[in-house]
Amino acid sequence: MEYSEKVMEHFTHPHNVGKMDDADGVGEVGNAKCGDIMKMYIKVRDGVITDVKFNTYGCASAIATSSMATDMIKGKPISEALKLTNQAVVEALDGLPAVKIHCSVLAEEAIKAAIKDYYDKNGIAYDAAQFREDTCHYEHHHG
Ligand code: FES
Repeated sequence: MEYSEKVMEHFTHPHNVGKMDDADGVGEVGNAKCGDIMKMYIKVRDGVITDVKFNTYGCASAIATSSMATDMIKGKPISEALKLTNQAVVEALDGLPAVKIHCSVLAEEAIKAAIKDYYDKNGIAYDAAQFREDTCHYEHHHG
C-alpha cells in the first residue's frame, strides 16, 4: 500500500491532536467498517471555528485525514466547515489508497457531529438535512 508524502507527514506529525475541556461542541463517530472511533472538539466564536482538536483510535489514514481536515476548518466559518467533504480532504492529501477511503469519512462526520452538538447546546436552529447521513457504505455507531 502506497501513501503519499503528505499522508505520511500528517500521520507522523499530526496537527490539532488532543482534548479540549471547554469545547463548544463535541462530536464522536465510529466507523462501521473497522470499528475505529473519532472524537472532535470545536471552539466557536461569532460563527467561526477558532480552535479544533481531535482524538482517534483510527489508523494512519484516519489520523492523516483528521489532521488535514482540522487544519482546513480552523479559523473558518461554520458554514464553510459544513461544506468540507472527505473527498476534498483526500485531495488535499494527494490521495489515499482506495481501501483506505472509508477512513477519511470519519473526520468529515466527526466535524459535522461537533457542529451539530454546538447548535444543539446553544439552541441554534438548523436544517437537519445538512446532517443527514449518506446512504453509502458506512453508518454511525451510537452510544
Ligand atoms: Fe479504521 Fe482506517 S482502518 S479508520
